[in-house]
Amino acid sequence: MAKTKFKINKKRFIPAVIFVVMLTVLLGSVVFELVLHGNSMMWGSSDMSIEAQKARAEKKNNPYGANKKDPYLVLVNKDNQMTDKDKPNSTKAVEHYTDTATTETCTMETRAANAFNRLTSAAEDDGVEIVLTTGYRSYSTQKKLYDYYVNKFGKSKANKQSAKPGWSEHQTGLAADTSSPEVNYQLTQDYADTAAGKWLAKHAHTYGFIIRYPKGKQDITGYEYEPWHIRYVGTKAAGVIYKNNLTLEEYLGED
Ligand code: DAL
Ligand code: ZN
Repeated sequence: MAKTKFKINKKRFIPAVIFVVMLTVLLGSVVFELVLHGNSMMWGSSDMSIEAQKARAEKKNNPYGANKKDPYLVLVNKDNQMTDKDKPNSTKAVEHYTDTATTETCTMETRAANAFNRLTSAAEDDGVEIVLTTGYRSYSTQKKLYDYYVNKFGKSKANKQSAKPGWSEHQTGLAADTSSPEVNYQLTQDYADTAAGKWLAKHAHTYGFIIRYPKGKQDITGYEYEPWHIRYVGTKAAGVIYKNNLTLEEYLGED
């Protein structure tokens, strides 16, 4: 039988080999990508592992790494209410309060009261008098106060200044309205320009408190600027909130 003689055409053979090699490399890398990132490619998302995606979602919901299980970070606002039964586990009277305060409203949740005492004592050392006008307010006390605001200003204005019963963080025992002799112990925005108001804005975080309703953040908090209203959140959270000029809502990723 006659042998078939193959004659290699060099001109065609070399480009063909290059083509086959390139095709193999291309197919190989596609298969490699599918094995490595098949899941994210299947679901049309970016080139991220499930863990990385979870971490990104967590960061979005909790941008400052707040410990959301910490009871001292409880969020009470127009979207997160308390029931008429909710009250702090334990309360105690603070050391410095106005004579308008009652046996109920001169108190705060125990840890917050201790922190408040440290705050007023440090202010005193700096020659500044800061006193509590109301701390803990029960559901029924808040109801009386809210009704008073509605009668005086009408519902629309009242809702920007006073929380409805169940909507006030005073019911947690962690909030304090403060004042000083410079404004005759009243709650007024002029307080911001007094020595007491300035001291509070600068130092409250050192004792674990934040200015809860800051200027220019009404659209987030739902309330007008209250330079007198401080809220205990603990020193770690207060430091982050102070340094980043945040509201509690922003700190918790709930804005
Ligand atoms: N003034 C604040 C919003 C309160 O009533 O709790
Ligand atoms: Zn208040």
